[in-house]
Amino acid sequence: MKHLRVTPRQPLHGRLYLPGDKSISHRALLLAAIADGESHISGFLPARDCLATLTCVRDLGVHIIVHDRRTMTVHGRGLHGLRPPTEQLDCVRSGTTMRLLAGLLSGQSFSTILTGDAQLLRRPMERVAVPLRQRGTQIETASGHAPLRIQGGKVNGGELTLTVPSSQVKGALLLAGLYASSPLTVHQSAPTRDHTERMLAGMGADISVDGDRVFLAPPTCLSPLSIDIPGDISAASFPIVGAILVPGSEVTLAGVGVNPTRTGLIDVLQEMGARITISSEHLVANEPVGDITVRHAQLHGVEIKGEAVVRLIDELPLVAVAATQAQGNTVVRDAAELRVKETDRIATVVVELRKLGARIEERQDGFVVEGPTVLTGGIVDSHGDHRLAMALAIAGLVAQKEVIVRQAGCIGDSFPDFITEMRSIGVCYD
Ligand code: S3P
Repeated sequence: MKHLRVTPRQPLHGRLYLPGDKSISHRALLLAAIADGESHISGFLPARDCLATLTCVRDLGVHIIVHDRRTMTVHGRGLHGLRPPTEQLDCVRSGTTMRLLAGLLSGQSFSTILTGDAQLLRRPMERVAVPLRQRGTQIETASGHAPLRIQGGKVNGGELTLTVPSSQVKGALLLAGLYASSPLTVHQSAPTRDHTERMLAGMGADISVDGDRVFLAPPTCLSPLSIDIPGDISAASFPIVGAILVPGSEVTLAGVGVNPTRTGLIDVLQEMGARITISSEHLVANEPVGDITVRHAQLHGVEIKGEAVVRLIDELPLVAVAATQAQGNTVVRDAAELRVKETDRIATVVVELRKLGARIEERQDGFVVEGPTVLTGGIVDSHGDHRLAMALAIAGLVAQKEVIVRQAGCIGDSFPDFITEMRSIGVCYD
């Protein structure tokens, strides 16, 4: 799919079951690979990023039977059973694959090279290499970027503090910590997503979280997983914002992960005046899950800064879209991390939303949106960034005329069924 054509102003109605959570899908594969025995995974997200992890895990000698796109059996090889790959491991475009693997491979008794496509080779890797080196791993970057050359082996325990509030870096350290000679304690400056911690606890590891401190004692083995991965809250965010913005909409998203480290967008939208309810909350594989119901509402501007940013980092392009329809100014600060995502999301969101008539100003660490504005139709570009492509497709729902999103194929990096799912609730995409 090259372009996505959006016909505006169709109300969204109905019930959606979203694809499995991307962060949890990556972690389920990586941890099942080193568990003792057969793991059963359902609700896996069959997106390009997670399939990159699947291929890498297979290249490390792990037998995976894929029953259908979302269900698989992983024959874990135990903590010390991975095999050296015959070639470089290709993480394609997935930063999560590369950074988490860097941690896991630090503990292996062989060397590996991690590489990826041009977009991934532009992303910063010293953030994960530096703390792994401090634990004793020999890891080389190419001037701060992939390819990463990792000579695994010795991992030291001890204490360290994350300098970047990143779940990928924390996750890498915890995966390396599984192989450490003594317990590892990681201090984080903000509450980043905690899926690795929850999954490891479910697999029998001695891991505990106390405020900003995560403690892990190296286990002798990990029990296999049996997990039905909850729906992805980040994918749910697109129909959620679509339903809020288009008059006459009401949508329920069933079985979505509502882990508090991920629900920052819901909190911000409620603060902006949205009507969102979460019902039928329960735990699935140690993760909170619920049904989210959302209706159209008039929004007003808010300020988003500090720790709140970490809980909605991937949703900030959508916040910009919502803010164009809100009364007053919306200010996003402390979000310079957006500049090193799949694209520089501050620059790309600003340039593309302006093409539709948004009043949005770039700041070094965020943006300011003045609303409400009537968005015109027009042609916009994803810059190869899946979240930007989908955020622009949501902006198109409230534009005056048709919006065409160029380079929309990248949507498959995280939400391959986006168009089909959105059509099923009444959206006109082709
Ligand atoms: C992810 C963590 C976040 C997020 C990314 C997925 C993860 O990155 O932006 O899309 O699965 O751990 P950082 O933790 O580096 O901020």
